[in-house]
Amino acid sequence: MITRQIADNVHAFSVDDHTTPLFEGLWPVQPGGVTYNSYLITDEKNVIVDLTREFKAETLLDAVSSIVELKKIDYVVVNHMEPDHTGALRTLLRIAPDIQILCTSVATSMLDSYYSVKTNIREVEDGEKLSIGKKTLSFHHTPLVHWPETMVTFDETGGTLFSGDIFGSYGAVPEQVYDDEHAKLDDYIKESLRYYTNILSKFSPQVEKAVQSVKRLSPKVIAPSHGLVWRKDPGRIVDLYAQWASFAVTGGEPGATLIYATMYGNTAQAMNAVVRGLQHESVPVNVFNVNETHLSYILPSLYTNRGVLIGSPTYEGNIFPVIRHVLTDVGAKRIFNKSAAFFGSWSWSSGALREITSMVKPYHWDVAESLEFEGAAKESVVKQAYDLGVAFGKRIKSGK
Ligand code: FEO
Repeated sequence: MITRQIADNVHAFSVDDHTTPLFEGLWPVQPGGVTYNSYLITDEKNVIVDLTREFKAETLLDAVSSIVELKKIDYVVVNHMEPDHTGALRTLLRIAPDIQILCTSVATSMLDSYYSVKTNIREVEDGEKLSIGKKTLSFHHTPLVHWPETMVTFDETGGTLFSGDIFGSYGAVPEQVYDDEHAKLDDYIKESLRYYTNILSKFSPQVEKAVQSVKRLSPKVIAPSHGLVWRKDPGRIVDLYAQWASFAVTGGEPGATLIYATMYGNTAQAMNAVVRGLQHESVPVNVFNVNETHLSYILPSLYTNRGVLIGSPTYEGNIFPVIRHVLTDVGAKRIFNKSAAFFGSWSWSSGALREITSMVKPYHWDVAESLEFEGAAKESVVKQAYDLGVAFGKRIKSGK
């Protein structure tokens, strides 16, 4: 864990987690880890903004108490109720029971349901300001970024935005707190995109609204609850989030993601020919065997590329089950508005194409090219698969 002063009277506590294998019990985060950032604002009133997971409570509270006695903290701001930011709350309240909690009204019932906390809660309105001495804080509701109760907190005097989940990322950053300290910022941003697609893509319309609110505040420093603090170029992470949110409507950029599964190698053979066709058209393609790569790592490609190719054998007259699973989750994440194509082998009954076409219709995926073939990927099939790749590549380049 690292403690840094990030602005006048503002300390950041970056609590690294290198042991939890799955973020939200779903998304792999090791070996890179994840941070839970908490912030302390010292003024006539002392304020702590967001906390950490329950099992990291001692680590955080020890660090905070080295700067200010816990009983001298006046407010704890709960920007977001998810337990990665509130797990330490009960421990803090046991030590300092007079702390007042600042949160949205939606968070109030969650405080009760999660922690049986019913008192010392002050609900803040959207845009409400609070003087804490020399500094004034303001609170801005950002519902569904990431839960319905979420808000961000702005230090109006110093210009630091405590943004909660938005503008965050996977990746523990043990020696770096700031964007300008990270030696491989582009790699970090790739992890930010994975985090976005795993956690926030479903809520892209709400992210877009939140980004507009944040732009109006013109923060000098963006201090999220996960990952780096952006002090050199806060506009970069704001613009990236704006771009990612826009992909929910545009379908993404002109590139392709190919997801496939294979039972006996025939659909894989067709996949190789499809890829050659795409390469002939110089269309970049990311290929994923869905049995070998966790969905967490497939989602960034699916989300950002407008083109999606699905290679699925027919299994018992329907889509291959693992492909169905991926497509179900893709729908849940609202990864919509794609140009799509299908290919796959069948043995005693076709059916995968029929089910896939029906599955992706509500996602507004346009499945224009398809190749369902019986049995082996014979020479004629390989030629058709290559031609499918070429046709799809041309379609992607034409912007359709
Ligand atoms: Fe970092 Fe939605 O919790």
